[in-house]
Amino acid sequence: MDKFIVEGGVRLKGTVAISGAKNASLALMPACLLAPGTFTLNNTPNNRDLWTMSRLLGSMGVQTDLQGDVLTLDASHLTSHEAPYDYVKQMRASIYVLGPLIARYGEARVSLPGGCNFGPRPVDLHLKGLEKLGAQIEVEGGYIIAKCPRLQGAHFHFDVSSVGASVNILMAAVLAKGHTTLTNVALEPEVMSVVHMLSLMGARIEGTGTTTLEIDGVDELHAVEFATIPDRIEAATFLIGAAMTKGDVTLTNVEPEHLTAVIQKMEKAGCELEVGTSTIRVVMDDNPEPVDITARTYPGYPTDSQAQWAAFMLTSKGASTIKDTIYPTRFGYVPELQRLGADIETGDGYCIVKGGAHLSGATVMSSDLRASASLVMAALVAEGRTEILRVYHLDRGYEALEKKLGSLGAVIERETTEDF
Ligand code: EPZ
Repeated sequence: MDKFIVEGGVRLKGTVAISGAKNASLALMPACLLAPGTFTLNNTPNNRDLWTMSRLLGSMGVQTDLQGDVLTLDASHLTSHEAPYDYVKQMRASIYVLGPLIARYGEARVSLPGGCNFGPRPVDLHLKGLEKLGAQIEVEGGYIIAKCPRLQGAHFHFDVSSVGASVNILMAAVLAKGHTTLTNVALEPEVMSVVHMLSLMGARIEGTGTTTLEIDGVDELHAVEFATIPDRIEAATFLIGAAMTKGDVTLTNVEPEHLTAVIQKMEKAGCELEVGTSTIRVVMDDNPEPVDITARTYPGYPTDSQAQWAAFMLTSKGASTIKDTIYPTRFGYVPELQRLGADIETGDGYCIVKGGAHLSGATVMSSDLRASASLVMAALVAEGRTEILRVYHLDRGYEALEKKLGSLGAVIERETTEDF
């Protein structure tokens, strides 16, 4: 297991390039199952979840190759229509193969995803949506078994705004026979990037950027070259991390319009932000004002950056409340931050961060991807040495985080250890 060793007290300075969006890549990659030929996905991030998805697709007979940030995939000759538990248990997004497989091959056998550290992650909407399109769904031995010779267009309403279910049902509907209307579709940029690529592949979709998509099914689609959008969550992590160290950092390869809620909150906290077309510079030379956030669906403040905001507010001049309306129990990072000296009170669906507590280094444990990011950021401002264990959680969604932080002046090393 790898760990990070961080010496706190350095102000981050310089320029850092943001990678492609993990949560876009994880949806765009299984979309290659919908058509023969070679797909080229540019600006693909090189992280652990991408490797897991590549291995999963490879186990089904997809040829994949990553050269730098250019990922090519060819699903012309599949050998299996199954996503085994071994892959799904590592990464919930493995379920994204379900929609494309049933749409193009009429059958799929996909392991049910397990839970995760911040609460239940149901897939009922994925299954209800496919059933509405005519699929026969059975759950047996921990596996979803889906069959349908040809999906039929229908109207499906997502009774909860769901990124994953929106992606899965959309990828099924584009090859269904007839017209499909999807309502209450998630608006996250990662979902819209799938709509964009499917349209380039020949899908007929109206309503991009709205919560209602009108789809006329087609008989076949074709492979394309496509650029993955920048990772707005990595960008938020670096913006907040730079600000909490009272640094001066410029991010490149970002899409500022995907970060409106984060930018607004940072400006309210007193950060100086210069927003360009694909860059954002953040300068901060004081402790931030306390600012409350409530994580909501897009374009609200992203749940994947609420842990990072909690770390930021540790350095603030007062108390701020962090709420999460999507995952009300996503506060597993609090006990670990408290080990660094943080003064945080938790309640049902929220925590209250009391800024100003003296933070000093300790050994802390990563629990999930974004909670781990908040621990790294707190370590950057804690006095002395902090060890962060089980950084494989971080590696799932950040490409060489320690190298990028190191290039901004952070004192951070990765060490491989035998213990857990
Ligand atoms: C995606 O997960 C992201 N993962 C998550 O990012 C992110 O936190 C989440 O969206 C919310 O933005 C990927 O894109 C790979 P949801 P997903 O379906 O699709 C409920 C990270 O750190 N729901 O939008 O699984 C669910 O319980 C990860 O990068 C149902 O009730 O999230 C939740 O309350 C963590 N039934 C809400 O919808 C369903 O069938 C939103 O979940 C599906 C979801």
